Amino acid sequence: MERLISMCKQRGFIYPSSEIYGGLNSCWDYGPLGAELKRNIKEAWWYANVQLRDDVVGADTSILMHPDVWRASGHLANFTDPLVDCKECKRRYRADHLETDVCPECGGELTEARQFNLMFKTFLGPVEDDAAVVYLRPETAQGIFVDFKLIQNATRQRVPFGIAQIGKSFRNEVSPGNFIFRSREFEQMELEFFVSHDDDDEWFRCWVDYRWKWYLSLGINPNKLRQRPHGEDELAHYAKACIDVEYEFPFGWQEIEGIAHRGTYDLSQHIEHSGKDLSYFDDLTGQRYVPIVIESSAGVDRTLLTFLVDAFHEEEERTVLKLHPRLAPYKVAVFPLQKKPALKELALKIKDELKYEWNVTYDETGSIGRRYRRQDEIGTPYCITVDFDSLEDGAVTIRDRDTMAQDRVSLDKVSAYLRERLTWKPEID
Ligand code: GAP
Repeated sequence: MERLISMCKQRGFIYPSSEIYGGLNSCWDYGPLGAELKRNIKEAWWYANVQLRDDVVGADTSILMHPDVWRASGHLANFTDPLVDCKECKRRYRADHLETDVCPECGGELTEARQFNLMFKTFLGPVEDDAAVVYLRPETAQGIFVDFKLIQNATRQRVPFGIAQIGKSFRNEVSPGNFIFRSREFEQMELEFFVSHDDDDEWFRCWVDYRWKWYLSLGINPNKLRQRPHGEDELAHYAKACIDVEYEFPFGWQEIEGIAHRGTYDLSQHIEHSGKDLSYFDDLTGQRYVPIVIESSAGVDRTLLTFLVDAFHEEEERTVLKLHPRLAPYKVAVFPLQKKPALKELALKIKDELKYEWNVTYDETGSIGRRYRRQDEIGTPYCITVDFDSLEDGAVTIRDRDTMAQDRVSLDKVSAYLRERLTWKPEID
């Protein structure tokens, strides 16, 4: 992890937020390469879950919502962690994370556990009184539930159908950590799929499979991925089932996504608290009912860490980030063999032609070997070198990041060569 974190900082993937002021605990900034990787993950998620499906539509709802939303969802009352303080050294811990009943740092006596709500509070408007209190959303899902009827009416989707959303969420975590794994500001990719009471179990299985295949189709090592069904004692009182997708990080097996059968809880709660009818009328059967929700909820940052950890390889001669090409920040790097004007001109021309289709980088500094190493470290799948022969034979050398094999490709075939290798058609149906 330490070497990965150091590479991330050096190469412009991720660094501590506000670093020149000493950083802000558990807040992270994504640099140029991190921003590309993050965008690619979100796009690959949207592509598989919205674009390729006829039964899912997208949304982008507000971070600040009416406080009654959180009353209805149960977050105001129950979205808490148990906290204890050490009476001696004043350190604070999550009671459920402690293995002993004395302070693990100084052995001091601990206070009784008290519940700490994880939602960030702020004020809407200039008056800082109780009536103006609002919360930063701790999950994106509620925006989907409260808009369920609007979206269903607007799109004329029929159950079964889903609504997908990607956006920031905030949780005042008691113990954030493990780099970007648990932070206080993060992004979620959530999909709420509304189903009838006849085929809910089938749809739950279906989404577990679909999401599982998404990770595999983007190259995650299957030996490091597992499904962990929740035990009865872990399930929320309204949930019928929940399966976590877990990855084996250097700090152990950890949840990256939860797929849950949430019953009718979410819509029923909003029906009760808002007084609005959010039920669904099936005009084929003539039945009106509150749909069941099957939820897939993944963290963008956690998924990004998963892909980084899985791709990070330290070989004898080089460090290589074997990211799936769909996710790699740059798809192609173009190099002139030397800084000679004729070579540079052709290399830049190739770059300018390819940039309309892919994110392409150009590098003319250092030996070719060094330039390959730089691209290997940031995961660029293909490097194109323009040499003196290129000026004669109209061909370039394309080198593969993983195999390091090189092909000589004529200029008019470069785009097709790359398209064949870079196009991602996930086999997840
Ligand atoms: N709507 C359901 C929901 O929010 P969750 O298990 O609390 O469920 C879903 O969160 C996902 O969001 C997690 O699997 C994780 O990937 C991500 N996540 C949750 N808390 C996080 C945090 N503090 N930092 C980064 N990611 C987090």
